[in-house]
Parts: sequence; C-alpha cells; structure tokens
Amino acid sequence: MTDIKLQSIAKNFGGAPVLSDIDLDFAAGSFTALLGPSGCGKTTLLRLIAGFETPSAGEILFGTRTVATPEHQDAPEDRGVGIVFQSYALWPHMDVAQNIAYPLRARRIESSLIAPRVAAALRTVDLAGFESRRVDELSGGQRQRVALARCLVAETQAILFDEPLANLDVHLRASMIEAFRAIHQRTGATIIYVTHDQAEALALADRIAVLDGGRLQQLGTPQQIYGSPANAMVAGFVGRGSIVSATVDGQGASVAGHHFAARGTAQTGPAKLLLRPESLHLADAGIAATVDGLSYKGPVYELHLTITGSRERLVLDSPEPVAVGAKVHVAVTDAWIVPG
Ligand SMILES: Nc1ncnc2c1ncn2[C@@H]1O[C@H](COP(=O)(O)OP(=O)(O)O)[C@@H](O)[C@H]1O
Ligand SMILES: [Mg+2]
Repeated sequence: MTDIKLQSIAKNFGGAPVLSDIDLDFAAGSFTALLGPSGCGKTTLLRLIAGFETPSAGEILFGTRTVATPEHQDAPEDRGVGIVFQSYALWPHMDVAQNIAYPLRARRIESSLIAPRVAAALRTVDLAGFESRRVDELSGGQRQRVALARCLVAETQAILFDEPLANLDVHLRASMIEAFRAIHQRTGATIIYVTHDQAEALALADRIAVLDGGRLQQLGTPQQIYGSPANAMVAGFVGRGSIVSATVDGQGASVAGHHFAARGTAQTGPAKLLLRPESLHLADAGIAATVDGLSYKGPVYELHLTITGSRERLVLDSPEPVAVGAKVHVAVTDAWIVPG
C-alpha cells in the first residue's frame, strides 16, 4: 500500500494551464474518485501520478519518496502503479492467459510461478477457466475484467482507473461497480478512479475529489459532496436539485415568502440555496409554484416547477402525477446554503 501525495501540482501545455495548485493526499488503501466534467484535467492528473507527464510545478510523493518534480522524474515502471483505461488495451493476438501474464513475463518471473498467479487473478475478476479464450471472443465487460486481472496480477500497490466503465452498458456497469468494490476490499490497494459520472463516483468511492477547470473544488465523502457541496459548481454537478435565491437569517432561510430551516454558513442576507428533490414535497403551505412539466421516472413523477414571482425552477419527485399548469405549494424539509 502506498500513500500518494500531490503538493502544489500544476501542469501547463504550451503555456496554457490545465491543472493549477492541486494539493491531494491519497491515503494508503483508500478509494478516491476524481470526478469532473470532460476536459477538466482528470486524465492529465492520472498521467502525472503514473509518470507519463512531468509536472510544471509542485511535487509528487509515494510514501516518503519524491517521484516527480519539474526537474526529476521516476520512470513509470519504477513507480509500481497499475492503470486500467477506458479502452481495454489488450493484445488481440494473445489469449486471455497470455494477456494477463504479460506484466509478469516482462519482469522475467519464472514460468512455473506465472500460471497460478494468472488463475488467481482470473478468479478475482470472476473469469475462472477463461485462460485459453481469445480476446475477440469476449464481451466488453469480460474484456474489461481481463484488463483488470492484468493489472491485479502485477500486485501493484496502487491502481489508477481512467473511466473504465465508459464503454459498457448500464447493466454491466452495475456489476463492474460491485467487482471494483470487492477487489478493493480484497487487495487493499490504493485506488484512484477517474470518472465524469457522478452516480458512479457516489456509488464507488470512500472519498470524492471534484475537479473543474483544472482546480480542486472539493474533497469529501460522497455524503459531504452530495449533502454539503462546497460551491455552486459541485452543487450543480453532483445529483439532481435546484439552486435558488433565498434570504438567510439566524433561524433558516426564506424563498418567495416561505420560511424553513436550512443548513450551512451562519451568514445572513441574500444567499443561494440547494434544494434536493427528496427534500421537497407538495403540501398545503410552502413555496408557491406552478407545474411546468413532468416526466415519469419509474416509481415517481419528476415534477418541474417555476416559483411564483420569480423565474427560478424547482424539481421534486411526486408519487402522483400533477397536471401541467397546476398551482401548488412546496414544503421544504432540508436545504443547504451554498457557500461562496
Ligand atoms: N498532451 C496534451 N497537449 C496539449 N493539451 C492537452 C494534452 N493533454 C491534455 N490536454 C488538454 O488538457 C485539458 C484536460 O485534458 P484531460 O486531462 O484529458 O481532461 P479530462 O480527462 O478531464 O477529460 C484539455 O483541454 C485537453 O485538451
Ligand atoms: Mg479523460
């Protein structure tokens, strides 16, 4: 297990900043998701950790060892990290066992030791007995499991995932999420998992680091990121919800003349509030609003509303359909005062 530390990391490409002032500490054995929109710098951050890019400023440490500064770089093969990409990067002309054995052969491990390790890695990813299958006979999910087994067989202390489920369909993604969690528990490896999918990040990780525009926006547990986002970017990017204008006082917040309890900073005056759908319901008293539209979401109807007297929107889940144009009141059971 390796503790990975990024200290004041910056990366520029041709003078343009792609990452700025990143301080992140990945404790040994932790499972962290790096979450952010496309182009925010997630892959660049992984490539810096793996050793495929050089930082423009700052320092990367594995335990107490400095592996990268702008002046000095440890080679990728000396860092002992495994990477699983979105594309499987398997060798099409090799069978499953040969693909998985590749990192061991590259390290000149004795042949008699290789087969048992390949078989063990295949058991870990639920592909026992697949040794002699051809890669092109496998489904997308099975190929991703082989790529994962190839990474596991090397027994690296840290595993970096770059959107490994992006090419898989929804059902496979759910089963792979289970597999990743199980593998983390079994191996105790330090895992850094890049995704632009907030649901995946919430489901998988112990901690989520949210990136936007090359800057760290928030580091927290899934519950902190969802329930107490550090700014409007995180509030808007993670989960469903509405951000509305409010007036905050010592007892809570008011929206369109309706007062209710709110969590967050003690500041008073105008503020932005995050209202999640599960904290809103139709009631006799509450924020006056008009129903603009609805869509059926399995057990519930997602209602879209406009607050009376403003152009701000709310979204809530109703067990019953409500006619478009209906005048309703929305009671609030939880609200978060968005900092900043
Ligand atoms: N080798 C490179 N040369 C120039 N620009 C790059 C290079 N790699 C990435 N970028 C730019 O850096 C930004 C972040 O890219 P990337 O780390 O791939 O984001 P993400 O993985 O979050 O989608 C993008 O604007 C991308 O175009
Ligand atoms: Mg990327």
